[in-house]
Amino acid sequence: MPTDLTATFTGLRFSNPFLLSSAPPTESESNIMRAFEAGWGGVVTKTIGLHPVVNVAGPKTIFMKSDAGSPAISIRKRPNAALHSSWNWELISDKTLDWWVPRLGRIKKAFPDRILIASIMAGSGNDTELRHWQTLAEACQNEGCDALEINLSCPHMDREDMGSNIGKDRELVSVVTKVVKQVARVPVWAKLTPSTTDIVVEARGAFLGGADAISSSNTFTSLPLIDPVSLDFEVNVDGFVSTGGLGGPAILPLSLAKMSQLTQAFPKKSFSGIGGISTFEHALSYFLLGCGTVQVCTAAMLDHAIGPNVINALNAGLTQFLQAHADRGWTRVEDFIGLRRANVVAQSQIRRPDEKEYHGGHEAAEGYSLPEEPAKTGSTF
Ligand SMILES: Cc1cc2nc3c(=O)[nH]c(=O)nc-3n(C[C@H](O)[C@H](O)[C@H](O)COP(=O)(O)O)c2cc1C
Repeated sequence: MPTDLTATFTGLRFSNPFLLSSAPPTESESNIMRAFEAGWGGVVTKTIGLHPVVNVAGPKTIFMKSDAGSPAISIRKRPNAALHSSWNWELISDKTLDWWVPRLGRIKKAFPDRILIASIMAGSGNDTELRHWQTLAEACQNEGCDALEINLSCPHMDREDMGSNIGKDRELVSVVTKVVKQVARVPVWAKLTPSTTDIVVEARGAFLGGADAISSSNTFTSLPLIDPVSLDFEVNVDGFVSTGGLGGPAILPLSLAKMSQLTQAFPKKSFSGIGGISTFEHALSYFLLGCGTVQVCTAAMLDHAIGPNVINALNAGLTQFLQAHADRGWTRVEDFIGLRRANVVAQSQIRRPDEKEYHGGHEAAEGYSLPEEPAKTGSTF
């Protein structure tokens, strides 16, 4: 049976379900052109805003590594170290909307069949700020952008009315989504922050506001480690650091847990999975939980800035997977989306050894025999 790498998501047809997420790989026209040439099915631009942006006077991103020979997690270069995570405190694009507008148009003309998604961000503190969302949305869609991703999730914003500070407030999530939807002629994806108690609450706000999809997740709020010799943070400016965002392999299981909550709560809605993806196997976990597309950042940053080898491996992995499962009649990604969504259940629903019973930490209901020995405490692993 022939395999088909295409995917339809929020009404858009992607040549494959693999996208570059909003980040340095998508910060320029040349990068995005190269990304499409390399084969990415879609690209989400580095977030575009209207407020002034100046980044820190030092490295904006570091890559932490771990190794089998020591418990150290550090940016220190050493042999046989493996990537643990990326950490960044980079702000949104420092290029203006005027800089972006002609470039978006040129990219779309050069690649009319590829999906270009504009990531946008403004504030939420007053009507002028809310109008900024609409200005950004209209400008990007007028240049041919196929969708908008609203950034409600940047973890390092000082402004109380921006980024993940919006994403932590379900009402603001709803208001901002609605304001963008009022002018949008293209699908609107809401990119949520993982830094909340229950991401389902904010997702509900986004869907009530009219979001066509949720992207999850952005980076996790975090700090770099302190060097035990110099006693300085491994990244700092004049000794100082502020919280930034963790990405890469370390967040894959964390982001999967958020995604599982989302896809279970809204099984009929659309989700774009992000966090720690560098291989098809990683992407597969997101698909099986219910995502229709996935996005990649850290792995692409470390592969010629836009991930040519990563996208080749993702497409090859999907092709091989479909061929291996041809006997099930699977020919495209839609055939297995959400297949394991229902396999994440409450702890008490997991089978116990035959002779034991467990009632989720509650006493056994009347009529049941009580456990013979007190419940064991300690590690559940
Ligand atoms: C240096 C850097 C800059 C980023 N900038 C943005 C941004 O402007 N807008 C956005 O929505 N996400 C931004 N992100 C978050 C990524 O798009 C992505 O959600 C996150 O890195 C998790 O994916 P990963 O594990 O593949 O890196 C940035 C991430 C990094 C590492």
